[in-house]
Amino acid sequence: MNNEMRRKLIEAAKEERERSHAPATNFKVGAAVLMKNGKIYKGCNIESKGFGSLICAERDAIFEAITDGEHDFVAIAIVSITNDETFPCGICRQVMYEFMPEDTEIILEDREGNIKVYMLKDLFPHGYKL
Ligand code: THU
Repeated sequence: MNNEMRRKLIEAAKEERERSHAPATNFKVGAAVLMKNGKIYKGCNIESKGFGSLICAERDAIFEAITDGEHDFVAIAIVSITNDETFPCGICRQVMYEFMPEDTEIILEDREGNIKVYMLKDLFPHGYKL
C-alpha cells in the first residue's frame, strides 16, 4: 500500500475520533479499516457506565465492516487524542487476529506526523484460534 492511501486512512480515523464517546476517560480514539475492494469503515471508542461494556475504536470499525458483509481486511489505522502512536489493546489484537490476515497493516502516526506501519503478525504472534 502507498503512503497516500495510508494517510487517507489516518485522516478517516481522525474524522471518526470526533464521534468518540469517552466521558469516563476523555481518551478519544478513532480507527478506520480498509477493505480489499477499497471500502473504508470507521469506528470510535464508546464508553458505558458499566465499564466492562465499553468498545474500543478498533473493534467498532472491524465490526462495522463485518456487519456490512465485508471480510477482506487490508489495513487498520488508529489515532487517539495523544496525537502519538496508540497501539491496540490486547482484546482488539485478539479480534484482529481472528478476523484479519496476518499481513494486515496496522497504521499509526507519531508525534511528528510520520506514518508508522506494523504487521499484525508482529504485534500478535502465536495467537489463539479455535
Ligand atoms: N481505547 C481504544 O478505543 N483503543 C485503544 O487502542 C486503546 C484504548 C479506548 C478504550 C477506553 O474507552 C479508552 O480508550 C481508555 O482506555
